[in-house]
Amino acid sequence: MRILMVCLGNICRSPLAQGVMEEIAKNKNFICEIDSAGTSSFHAGEPADPRSVEVAKQNNIDISAQRSRELKKEDLEYFDYIFAMDKSNYQDILKLCTGDQASKVKMFLEFGDNKEVTEVPDPYYTEGFDYVFDLVEKACINICDKIN
Ligand code: 4NP
Repeated sequence: MRILMVCLGNICRSPLAQGVMEEIAKNKNFICEIDSAGTSSFHAGEPADPRSVEVAKQNNIDISAQRSRELKKEDLEYFDYIFAMDKSNYQDILKLCTGDQASKVKMFLEFGDNKEVTEVPDPYYTEGFDYVFDLVEKACINICDKIN
């Protein structure tokens, strides 16, 4: 199983989603490949935002080795599930899809605990990294249970 987490910059939300998913999969012996990407190249090559690295670290997850990269067309072929953090990411991913690839693209919080929260808010300008971590962790647990 190959899973890709996608946000805009690939420095705040999707690196956390990747790190949390890797940790949960490891603990459950769920064999899968997990990666993340951004719909933009704004931060390509950069490490995750220090605030994401910190909140991950507080939860015993190390995401410091991750580097931002831009989503590419080949990702839509390669990965089995592509999770968008918000609606804008979702629409941007769909623009790259051909054939039936769109069926692999899901809103990440379709698997969240609270159905009223449909998007992971972008914390880049607004803070709220603890809240983002909480949303991400719950959704990753549910995804692992569902697709394992
Ligand atoms: P992310 O957050 O999409 O969760 O990685 C952002 C990071 C950077 C920018 C926007 C969102 N930016 O505009 O530079």
